[in-house]
Amino acid sequence: MTNSLLAVIMELEILLLTVVSLLSHANGAKYELSVADEDIFSSCNSPDPGTLDINGLMDLSELSTSMSAEGVTISGNATLIWDINLEDRVQMNTNLLYFDRGTWTPTAFSMVSKDFCKSMYDKNQYYYKYWTGYITNDIQDKCINVPGTKIIHKTFTLSLTANVMGPLREGTYKAQLMLRAYDATGIERPTRICLEIRGDLFKV
Ligand SMILES: *[C@@H]1O[C@H](CO)[C@@H](O)[C@H](O)[C@H]1NC(C)=O
Repeated sequence: MTNSLLAVIMELEILLLTVVSLLSHANGAKYELSVADEDIFSSCNSPDPGTLDINGLMDLSELSTSMSAEGVTISGNATLIWDINLEDRVQMNTNLLYFDRGTWTPTAFSMVSKDFCKSMYDKNQYYYKYWTGYITNDIQDKCINVPGTKIIHKTFTLSLTANVMGPLREGTYKAQLMLRAYDATGIERPTRICLEIRGDLFKV
């Protein structure tokens, strides 16, 4: 599993929080997201040519994850392998979908980070709170743009429990993340990364 995974998980939690606040009402309820797969990240269904999954972004062989009642504990390192350039702008789009009677249905929640590298250590970002804040070697000068870069983490536990301010439909969700890289002239690089995290949401 990756730090990027972490980011995704965190992102999902934030997504849920956001969704909840969108739906918002007064009974503070506690929800827990149970991730469907210990590997956390799935590939996207029928992606366009040039679309890679988590294994196209990072080598996770030095990263380990384990799930417990407290959440997912993540430790170790990840090594970047995505073949893009240092100067590229990386855009991240996130969408939350709900599994409704056999069909993945979009929810109101979607988010765009136009320039991930500029804000990767911004303390107000969910990915700082859940991922980049746990990176012990400062990689901002390389971001996720330089293959071979090692991302070293301190061990941390990601709790997938969220307090939300209102009713959220229980059931199966997935967050879909798409990373795209653009060169200085705005041309997209030939490969992009698509990841999904699936889980079941329960009211605790
Ligand atoms: C992570 O990288 C550091 C520094 O290279 C190394 O000391 C450590 O053993 C690595 N951890 C794992 C789990 O490979």
